[in-house]
Amino acid sequence: EKDGYASFMLKEIAEQPKAVADTLLGRIDPSGSLTLDELRITPADLRQIDKVVIVACGTAFHAGLIAKYAIEHWTRIPCEVELASEFRYRDPILGGRSLVIAISQSGETMDTLMALRHAREQGSKVLAICNTNGSTIPRESDAVLYTHAGPEVAVASTKAFLTQLVACYLVALYLCQVRGTKWGDEIQAVIKDLSKISEEVERVLETMEPVRALARTLAGKDTVLFLGRHVGYPVALEGALKLKELAYMHAEGFAAGELKHGPIALVEEDMPVVVVVPSPRNRSLLHDKIVSNIQEIRARGARTIVIAEEGDEAVVPYADHLIRIPATPTLLQPVVATVPLQVFACELAAARGNEVDQPRNLAKSVTVE
Ligand code: F6R
Repeated sequence: EKDGYASFMLKEIAEQPKAVADTLLGRIDPSGSLTLDELRITPADLRQIDKVVIVACGTAFHAGLIAKYAIEHWTRIPCEVELASEFRYRDPILGGRSLVIAISQSGETMDTLMALRHAREQGSKVLAICNTNGSTIPRESDAVLYTHAGPEVAVASTKAFLTQLVACYLVALYLCQVRGTKWGDEIQAVIKDLSKISEEVERVLETMEPVRALARTLAGKDTVLFLGRHVGYPVALEGALKLKELAYMHAEGFAAGELKHGPIALVEEDMPVVVVVPSPRNRSLLHDKIVSNIQEIRARGARTIVIAEEGDEAVVPYADHLIRIPATPTLLQPVVATVPLQVFACELAAARGNEVDQPRNLAKSVTVE
């Protein structure tokens, strides 16, 4: 069933353009408006919402962190993201106007389930974003938006993550639509770019050979650091998580602006540091800051692996290795920027002789708290 791929993970990485396209299918009409009737939360209820709280674990939590940037920027509704395992123990402030979004590939993660039960007890509406039809989390939620990634067999989540991002964008844009927030050129342009994003994922996949070759040369390293700013920060966290679970290496993700507050002390001669660079077009201030972050770590001996948009020339002098991704609107960049990190971790794990689909100590769905 691996269709000739060396692992399910590689197969699932390759399936991402289809998974993304299937998750968008039928949800954006040609005029650019969204149809999410399946949500089962009425537009009237959605107009009442004064807070969004996202709960999830692991990779799904990283999708939630990215969703926060999109939800707050597009809808102007305050949004919190919390690890499901921490949520109910801190007595969170919830009410009838809070929308709690539970993100889960399996729909069976006990931490996420307990968080959503707690939210419903407080009278909040719960929307599940889930990949598994009829699983427990959607059954216990008020509403569900299914991701259409198809079955994910490899323990490490890849195609499910990309579809979780897409589902989060759809929910955020739908909130704009029903509430009329910023409903104009900016949002219309984003919807247009979102509807084409699976083609961009396809293009990224076509250029992954140098990433594989690079990963193989790093099999003997002990530590890899990942840096990002804005939505690139959760992408860095996701890149580090993939490397930990698959390659069993010390990997950490940081917000690049935090470097000078401590983590820069970790940088040693020839240590690989992966940097996710935001688009130079939109938030140029952010872009310039990360270019100086790259200079700083390189001056301290880091081997810089830079993920940057096509046409971004400012990073070239400071990149020991340059990985190009297609230009996308800032908030959508994680959909394309995550792919090289998945390939990188998968190849590095294989080079270290690890079992890619079944990493040690891990299970595909975690049904205990
Ligand atoms: C990482 C990974 C895990 C899951 C987490 C949540 O690659 O697969 O971190 O993302 O256990 O699982 P779901 O999404 O099934 O709730």
